[in-house]
Amino acid sequence: MAEKNTEDRKELMRKIKDEVLNLKGSALYEQRIKNKVLPVIGEGSHSAEIMFVGEAPGKNEAIQGRPFVGASGKFLNELLKSVGIKREDVYITNIVKDRPPENRDPTPDEIEMYGPFLDRQIDIIQPKVIATLGRFSMVYVMKKFGLDFDIEPISKAHGKAYEAKASYGKVQIFPLYHPAVALYNGSMRIVLKKDFEILKQYASN
Ligand code: URA
Repeated sequence: MAEKNTEDRKELMRKIKDEVLNLKGSALYEQRIKNKVLPVIGEGSHSAEIMFVGEAPGKNEAIQGRPFVGASGKFLNELLKSVGIKREDVYITNIVKDRPPENRDPTPDEIEMYGPFLDRQIDIIQPKVIATLGRFSMVYVMKKFGLDFDIEPISKAHGKAYEAKASYGKVQIFPLYHPAVALYNGSMRIVLKKDFEILKQYASN
């Protein structure tokens, strides 16, 4: 697949936003309208080398229409800063673009409905590394790239790179724990910090 120019990428992302805004078939769309909140498409560089994929927006994210702006987001910012990566140089998104009620886990139907938007975002950005945040996005992304048989528990998979073939060339899938797990667990903070050091090396290779 040919590399896209800046305008193409912007236009393709805008199209995704329009489609998600009008996703009337989704039960989460109904909730969004009822609660007067926003979908979260993603933010950052459209030509990022690293793309972070979380699960679904939380309360603060749905209010602001931006990914990872609550407590997990603060820690994600700290992790990025600790290895000298600027938030605006990466792209941050989720599999599911609307907030599931009460922050429950996304259902398989929701993942099926919103997953294709993430697939398109990956093809637009063409990242070198896709860092998945938490088990849901790890499983979705690894399956998408035909790595079903390589899927391990996140306790084993975190901090390792799995090479896959994307439509545009090679991509490394890099599973990470979700930053939320570290909020009340100091030892997880250390694990995540170490994994970010490794991630940084893959991104700069
Ligand atoms: N958790 C996620 O998985 N995504 C967000 O955007 C915020 C919290």
